Amino acid sequence: MKTSPFIYGSTVSNQSFTDRENEIRKLTDNLLGGINTTIISPRRWGKTSLVEHVTDSIKSKHPKIKIAMIDLFTVNSEEEFMEKFAGEVLKASSSKWHEWIKNSKKIFKNIIPKIQVSVDPVNNFSISFDWKEIKKHGDEILNLAETVAKQKKIKLIVCLDEFQSIAGFPDYENFEKRLRAIWQRQKEVTYCIYGSQRHMMTEIFNKPSKPFYRFGDVIMLGRIEREKWISYICDSFTATGKKIGKAEAGMIADLMQCHSWYVQQLSHYTWNLTKKLATGTEITNALNELLSSNMPLYQRETEILSTTQLNLLKAVANGEKQLTSAKVMNEFRLGTPHNVSKNKILLINNDVLGDSGDGYFFLDPAFELWFRKTFMNQTF
Ligand SMILES: Nc1ncnc2c1ncn2[C@@H]1O[C@H](COP(=O)(O)OP(=O)(O)O)[C@@H](O)[C@H]1O
Ligand SMILES: [Mg+2]
Repeated sequence: MKTSPFIYGSTVSNQSFTDRENEIRKLTDNLLGGINTTIISPRRWGKTSLVEHVTDSIKSKHPKIKIAMIDLFTVNSEEEFMEKFAGEVLKASSSKWHEWIKNSKKIFKNIIPKIQVSVDPVNNFSISFDWKEIKKHGDEILNLAETVAKQKKIKLIVCLDEFQSIAGFPDYENFEKRLRAIWQRQKEVTYCIYGSQRHMMTEIFNKPSKPFYRFGDVIMLGRIEREKWISYICDSFTATGKKIGKAEAGMIADLMQCHSWYVQQLSHYTWNLTKKLATGTEITNALNELLSSNMPLYQRETEILSTTQLNLLKAVANGEKQLTSAKVMNEFRLGTPHNVSKNKILLINNDVLGDSGDGYFFLDPAFELWFRKTFMNQTF
């Protein structure tokens, strides 16, 4: 039996990857041309997948270019950042562990790193520093990529995922300034920085008063287009011996508002429920399955909201734009204008709502459907 061609939960860089032609071209040109690039989008729209897709293809075509991939998701302090950064840069510079040790001796002037290599050196290499040394000579680590690149006569691309994490470090504003000042000067290294929590990322990169303003190119990653999803879904069904019509594939894309993760998830459930030809019935059943499997998560998300915050979500779900008008505040019991603006900011900062310029929208399309069903008795 064939398995489902749809993938969600892990990044897709090759198989199950679709569209993004323009972004691929732009990011490839930037990274090869030495232009630092920032990518911003809500969670699970496809940043990591896009960067992996592009760096995989650069790796296969340009063996002289080395790439360090650093995920900052679980990194909580400057110290952890430095250790992870140094470790990944050294690993990227060479595939042989004895070279890392030899290199590190040549590269570090003031800091003496502790390097640990275990049986499986490729995956089990770690570097640690004395915290007091980092405090004094941290710039040496932030310069590491450039130093290594010059010494080994290579070009380095350093990718930093979930970059918004640094905003949680103690004293991050100073740290941010140092990063920018040092990285901006480097000639042999190109940085690709991406992250979710759109609010935080735009704050870091698009605000003129912040150090990372104009650090490089900013790509606001959009949704994959409906038409692209339709061909992708239809082709994937056909390739695995099943069928789905264009109208039904469009229904999947529409229900999930072209959200990358959820289109894959709903397609996957639909594919599983389909014997030969997917119809509206399979899609409806798949949607219910999707909503109930995500329910614990959504419940947790709403449990922490206050009544006026829930009411604000109801107003947004109802398509209201003038949230501080007396009519809307009364009808939905939103509290005072002060409550409304505070709640709006909180929901945006927590990535529940997005700001489209002329109104607000749910960032998570399946959460929105569940919310309408659970809190507003709507059916689909
Ligand atoms: N180009 C793409 N084509 C098809 N599906 C994609 C694509 N990019 C992302 N996805 C889907 O979205 C999910 C989340 O992608 P990911 O790259 O992890 O997003 P992000 O890094 O923005 O949180 C993937 O697991 C996959 O199901
Ligand atoms: Mg990601």
